[in-house]
Amino acid sequence: MRKRILAAIMIFSLVIIMAGCAKSETPVVNKENGQKEEKIDGETSATVDGSTSASIVPEELVQEYKPKGFTDGDSKKALFVVGDPRKYSVNYDLVNTAMKYFEDKGIEVELRDLYDLKFNPVLSLENFYYAKDGSGEPTPEIKKEQEFVTQADYIIFCYPNWHDTPISIVKGYMETVFAKQFAYRDTDNGLEGMLKGKSIYTIMNAGFLGGGRGYIGDGVGMNDETWDEYMNAFKVLDEDTAGFWGVENKGRFVNDRTPKNNSENYEEEITKLREDLIKKLDKDFFN
Ligand SMILES: Cc1cc2nc3c(=O)[nH]c(=O)nc-3n(C[C@H](O)[C@H](O)[C@H](O)COP(=O)(O)O)c2cc1C
Repeated sequence: MRKRILAAIMIFSLVIIMAGCAKSETPVVNKENGQKEEKIDGETSATVDGSTSASIVPEELVQEYKPKGFTDGDSKKALFVVGDPRKYSVNYDLVNTAMKYFEDKGIEVELRDLYDLKFNPVLSLENFYYAKDGSGEPTPEIKKEQEFVTQADYIIFCYPNWHDTPISIVKGYMETVFAKQFAYRDTDNGLEGMLKGKSIYTIMNAGFLGGGRGYIGDGVGMNDETWDEYMNAFKVLDEDTAGFWGVENKGRFVNDRTPKNNSENYEEEITKLREDLIKKLDKDFFN
């Protein structure tokens, strides 16, 4: 009898545990646009904001922008190298804002969306000696990217901040495309950058770096010392990369004040963010 009671208790507990697990299933994702559905749980009415800490621009405010690409003309050219899996992130909003602004200013824009291209960021053994020494030939994939880099005056790297360095797919682009004998070479005086006359710039959306928007000195009074520490660290990274390739480092636009997904003033806040980016680009590129 005691055994039967024990078995009944165990079965009852199992049913309770399974019911609990069923409730915490992963959020429903819309297959068309990859967005999480507004309501994911009938009981708690959790919304997008309850289910993700990632930024999501409301559908009606998502900007779509397709740049016209490079031509053989004499206009300055900006190559956007973008690593971001989500077209509706605040990071991608900054990318679209910047691409449109450059084209409005008469600069040709070519977009290389590395996720769309399914770019392989891994420097394989097969490609290692090409990257390290420039020996052999680049793969057709790498060669194509090098042609875009050759045409570009400005190379704009864009990615969200994932652990304070370029995200893997962008870092892999740097490792594989900017190979020796293409981006730098040995001379009697040491390494020499081969991409002189070009510049690099970075656009990055972040989670928390002390509170700021812009670059060094652009903290918003939350923890300005930390902000500047981060920005100076990014500067070291950028200048070293620029030095290697012989290009100018034009700096960064980093946003660390992202509108909350459920903000009542979302439109106002994202508009201000877009304006701040444009002001910074104006200062960094057109003054
Ligand atoms: C894998 C991963 C690592 C992250 N690491 C950092 C970090 O080191 N510092 C930071 O400020 N934010 C970090 N974040 C937060 C993102 O920067 C933040 O979610 C930001 O909103 C990304 O921009 P997005 O929402 O426009 O994509 C990380 C996010 C992910 C997914």
